[in-house]
Amino acid sequence: MTRHLLAIDDVEDDFEMILKWAVEFKRLWKEGDDVAVNFMPLDTMAVGSIYEKPSTRTRVSFEVGINRLGGYPLTLLKNDIQLGKSETVGDTSQVLSRFLGAMTYRCFAHADVAELANYADVPVLNALSDKHHPCQAAADLMTIMEHFISTDGVKVAWVGDGNNVLHDLMLACAMLGIDIHYAIPEGYEPAEDVVKRTIDIATKNGSKVIATNDPVEAVSDADVVYTDVFISMGEEHMKDKMASFDGFQVNEKLVSHMNDEWKFMHCLPAHRGDEVTDWVMDHENSIVFDQAENRMWAQMSLLAYLVSFEAWETMGEFMGIG
Ligand code: CP
Ligand code: NVA
Repeated sequence: MTRHLLAIDDVEDDFEMILKWAVEFKRLWKEGDDVAVNFMPLDTMAVGSIYEKPSTRTRVSFEVGINRLGGYPLTLLKNDIQLGKSETVGDTSQVLSRFLGAMTYRCFAHADVAELANYADVPVLNALSDKHHPCQAAADLMTIMEHFISTDGVKVAWVGDGNNVLHDLMLACAMLGIDIHYAIPEGYEPAEDVVKRTIDIATKNGSKVIATNDPVEAVSDADVVYTDVFISMGEEHMKDKMASFDGFQVNEKLVSHMNDEWKFMHCLPAHRGDEVTDWVMDHENSIVFDQAENRMWAQMSLLAYLVSFEAWETMGEFMGIG
C-alpha cells in the first residue's frame, strides 16, 4: 500500500513515534553517531519536489534531508516543467512515478496535491497547499516536545488567521492530547471539516479545542503562542484583509498574559511589525529557528516512514528506540 501525507492526520496512528525518532535522529546525528550518519533508507532513490510557490525552509530542508538519507533530490519548479502548461496533474504523477521513489508538492489548490497522490505509485508529501501544511506541523510538535519535559498540561494558543498552518497545528496538537486555543477574527475561521476532525481526535485523547475572537483570552496562561502571516501566498490580492487583524499582533503586551516560561512560535517567513514585533521574534523565548531546523529532522523521519516502513522500523532498531 502506498502511504501519502496530505494532512497531518494521515499519520495519526504513528505520529508520536515519528516525532520521537526525529528527535532521536537529530540528537544522534549531532553527536556524530555512526549509525545515524550511515543510516541510508533512501539508498540512491530520487525524490522529486514540485514547487508552484516560493520556498526557503521547505526546499532546503528537503534537499539536505533527502541527501542525508542516501537519496538525491530533484527540485522541479513549475515554470520549468510541463505541469500547468499542457499536462495534467494526473499525467504528471504517472510519469514521475516511473522515475522517482517519492514526490513532494507545494501547490495552490489542495485538490491538486490530492490529485497527484491519487495517480501516484509512490508516496506523495504535501509541502504546503492552501489548506494544509503537515510537514510544518510535524516540525512544530517535535519542537514543542524538545522544549517541554512533558507535553502533559501544555497549552498552545494560536493568534491570527484560520489558515493552512493552523489546520495542521490543531490536528497535531489534538493527536498528542495537547490543548489548543485559537483566536481568529470573525470571517477568517479555520475550515469546518478540519475543526470537526480536530475535535474528534481531541475527544479521543482527552484534550480541548477552544475557539475565540479574543487574543487575550486565547493566550491567558498559555505556554506557547503561535502566529503566522495574515496574508498567505496566493492571497496577495486580499490586502483589505489586514484591517480585520487589528489587535491580533503578538507583542510584549500580549505575551504578558502568558505563563512566565512562554514560548513564541512561527512557521516563518515572518512579517515583522505585522503579526509579530521584533521584541517577540528576537526574545530568548522565541523558538522559531528551532522550528525551522526541525523541518529537516521531522521530514527525514516522515520520508523514511512513508517510503519504507521496513526501513523505518530498522531505523528504530538501529537506534535502540523501536
Ligand atoms: N515555513 C515554510 O514552509 O517556509 P518556506 O515557505 O520558506 O518553505
Ligand atoms: N500561511 C502561509 C505559510 C507559509 C509557510 C502561506 O500559506 O503562505
